Amino acid sequence: MADAVTLFEVGPRDGLQNEPRSIAAKDKIKLVNELSACGFQKIEVTSFVSPKWVPQMADATEVLSAIERRVGVVYAALTPNARGFANAVAANADEVAIFGAASEGFSQANINCSIAESLARFVPIIEAAQAANIPVRGYVSCITECPYDGAVQPDTVAEVAQDLFDMGCYEISLGDTIGAATPKTINALLDAVLERLPAAVLAGHYHDTNGQALANIETSLARGVRVFDAAVGGLGGCPYAPGAKGNVATEAVAQRLASLGFDTGLDVQRLKSAAEFAKELRN
Ligand code: HMG
Ligand code: MG
Repeated sequence: MADAVTLFEVGPRDGLQNEPRSIAAKDKIKLVNELSACGFQKIEVTSFVSPKWVPQMADATEVLSAIERRVGVVYAALTPNARGFANAVAANADEVAIFGAASEGFSQANINCSIAESLARFVPIIEAAQAANIPVRGYVSCITECPYDGAVQPDTVAEVAQDLFDMGCYEISLGDTIGAATPKTINALLDAVLERLPAAVLAGHYHDTNGQALANIETSLARGVRVFDAAVGGLGGCPYAPGAKGNVATEAVAQRLASLGFDTGLDVQRLKSAAEFAKELRN
């Protein structure tokens, strides 16, 4: 049997959050429904953040409440604080994600607090999630470079990743937020992270600003990572990471993985048409 790789589809959240043009909730719902038919096990649908900070995600409750839920698909959402978590649960999130950073500059710009403050803020979310039996995923942004602070040390990333894992996150998604990583810096990063955490609890979340994301995925595969985040149509970026392009396109990752002999369980044709629809949304 082929070695399995899970692609965590983050297009409806990471892909759309940075779109300047307002996208109707009904179109976001349609995109998620299209993606549900592609064979994903996990789809990040939206984020319960401040609408002042990210206006595009202001319809989180409407979108997450109205999607068609397919059995076997986990529908996830970002939750930066207790209020976001409560709203996500009320809208039936199957899983939530907390998002921290390995650089102080990005932490301040993105969630308006220091790294230490963010970890303290995550504690009540994890406690509430554990009480409600909701899995929590943890993101670490700026794994090699920060748009504000420059190069980030692998040990700093490893420390935040371990903190999130020890707090109760079941998986740590390593975010190359601005797409500046290369196979060399990813290898150095994984040297540090794998000293503390096994590959089985890691995911790669690589933006494709410099066209290196597929190479970074291959590098991570060689180190044992088997979960990657990707955005259909390659949409997106982070509003607080100036210049960063979208996540690596899911359809390109699926194709590369197939050619390398990995099984993603995805329907490539349906994925292509979902990518076409996703791209139309930004026109
Ligand atoms: P703050 O201003 O420090 O917090 O923001 P606050 O508590 O003072 O709240 C400010 C306003 O937002 C208040 O409204 C709150 O009520 C409201 P006002 O009283 O002024 O009218 N508010 C909320 N509204 C709805 N839902 C909430 C919520 N919380 C507060 N949950 C905060 C702190 C964390 C809220 C803010 O900084 C924020 O929302 N940041 C989110 C930024 C974001 O979403 N960035 C993109 C996602 S991260 C990413 O893309 C990276 C990733 O892809 C990985 C990678 O690529 O590296 C994950
Ligand atoms: Mg991202």
